Amino acid sequence: MKREKILFVASEASPFIATGGLAEVIGSLSKALAAKSKRYDVRVVIPLYMEIKQEYREQFKFIGNTTVPVAWRNQYCGVFEYVKDGVTFYFVDNEYYFKRKGCYGHFDDGERFAFFCRSVLEIMPLIDFYPDILHCHDWQAALAAIYLKTIYCRTEEYRNIKTVFTIHNIEYQGKYSIDNLQWLFGIDGYYQGMVEYNGCINLMKGAIECCDRFTTVSPTYAEEIKNPYFSHGLDAMVCRNEAKLCGILNGIDYEYYNPATDKALFANYDATNLAPKAVCKEQLQRMLNLQVRPDTPIVAMITRLVDHKGLDLVTAAIDEALEEDMQLVILGTGEGYYEHYFTELAARHPQRVAAIIAFNPELSRQIYSGADIFLMPSKSEPCGLSQMIASRYGTVAIVRETGGLKDSIKPYGAGGNGFTFANYNAHDMHYVLKEALALYRQTDKWNELVKKAMDTDFTWKKSAEGYEMLYRELTN
Ligand code: GLC
Repeated sequence: MKREKILFVASEASPFIATGGLAEVIGSLSKALAAKSKRYDVRVVIPLYMEIKQEYREQFKFIGNTTVPVAWRNQYCGVFEYVKDGVTFYFVDNEYYFKRKGCYGHFDDGERFAFFCRSVLEIMPLIDFYPDILHCHDWQAALAAIYLKTIYCRTEEYRNIKTVFTIHNIEYQGKYSIDNLQWLFGIDGYYQGMVEYNGCINLMKGAIECCDRFTTVSPTYAEEIKNPYFSHGLDAMVCRNEAKLCGILNGIDYEYYNPATDKALFANYDATNLAPKAVCKEQLQRMLNLQVRPDTPIVAMITRLVDHKGLDLVTAAIDEALEEDMQLVILGTGEGYYEHYFTELAARHPQRVAAIIAFNPELSRQIYSGADIFLMPSKSEPCGLSQMIASRYGTVAIVRETGGLKDSIKPYGAGGNGFTFANYNAHDMHYVLKEALALYRQTDKWNELVKKAMDTDFTWKKSAEGYEMLYRELTN
C-alpha cells in the first residue's frame, strides 16, 4: 500500500514549544494519525525557537542547510530532524529570526513567518519529502499554502500537493499593509486580490481562498464563523468558501492526560477508584493555603486571562457566588487587569480563593485532579481543551454553549456530562453554578456525574478519522 505523506506546518508543537492549545493539537493529532495505521507518513515542521530546550536539541539530527528568498534577501536556513512517537519533526533554524525571547509579538513577525513558510517549501528537496497533503495551521502557516499556489505549483514535484488550512482561532489573521505584498512577502501583484482584504494583506483570508479545504477545530465553530459576531470580519470570506469548510472536534492525548498514571498528581485514580481524588484535593488545598475542607467544592479555572474567556462574567458574579460554601482556584496569565483583579480577590478571601498568575503545566494537572468543578464561560471558543482535560480528571465542567464547548459538554439535565448555559450573561452562569453546587451536596448523584464526565470519549480516535476522510477525498 502506498503511504500517504502528510506535512503539518505550524508555529508551535508540543512537547517542544507551547504557548497554547495549538501546540497540543499539533503534537497529539500528528501522533494519533501516525499511530492509527501505517497508511500515513506524518511529519511536522516548526521554527527552531531559542526556547526549545537543550534536552531536546541534543537529540536533533542536522540534515543540512539551504538559502531561502525573503523579500530582497537570501537567508540561511538550517534543518534539524527528530523522530518522536512515529512522527518526524523538522526544525527550521535561523538565529536572526528565531533566537529571541518569546514566539510571537516581535515587530517583524510578518517577515519571520514569511521566512518560515518559504522555508517549508524550500526544504522539501533537502528532506526529500514532497507531501500529498500540506496541512497548514493558523495564520503563521498560511503563507506556506499561499506560496505553494502562487510560486511553487508550477514545478513538477510540487504540482500535486493538496492543501488543508485549519483555523484554531479566527481572531488572529496576520494583517499587514498592502505595501508589503511584493517587496516583503514576495507575492506577485497578479495575486493581490487573493490575499487582500479590506485594503490590507490578510494572510488567513489568502489561505482560505487558495487552499483545497479548510477546517476549524469544532463543528459548532465552523457554523459560528459564518456569523459576524464570531468571525472578526471574515464571515463573508468563510461563506464564500463554505463548500470547502468542515469542523472537526479536537481530542486530547489520553496517554499524557491520564489520572491513573500522571506523575504530577498527589495520588492516582480512575473512574472505578475515585477515592484517591480526595487526596489530590486535600493536598491541593494545603499547597495553596486554602482551608482543608473535604466537603467544600473547589471551583477551578485554568485559562489565559483574556476577555474572550468570559472573565467579565466571573468578575461580575463572583462576590455573590462566594456567599456560598465554595473555594475558587485560578491559574493563568494574561491581561494586567485580570491578573490584578484575581490577585486582589484572593487577598480579600484568604483561604478561600487562590490566584496563581503563571503558566505551569504540572500545577495545572494538580488543579484538574484536585478540583470538583471546572468553570469555562468563554464568549467564544474554537474548541477548548481544558474542559476535556478536566472531565478526564473527574472534574465536572460548567461551560457556555459556544464552539467546541458546546460540542463536548452536554447539560446534566438532559443526561449529559456537565453543566452549560447559553446566553453570555453573568446571572445565567451563576445560576448553573448554583445548580452544580447543589448537586455536589447530593454525593451519590454527584459521583455518578463525575464518572460520566470521566467516561466521555475525548480521544483522538473519532477526530483523526475526520481528518483521514478529508485527506482521502483530496488524494483520491
Ligand atoms: C486555539 C483555540 C482553542 C483550541 C486550540 C486548539 O487556542 O482558542 O479553542 O482548543 O486552538 O485547536
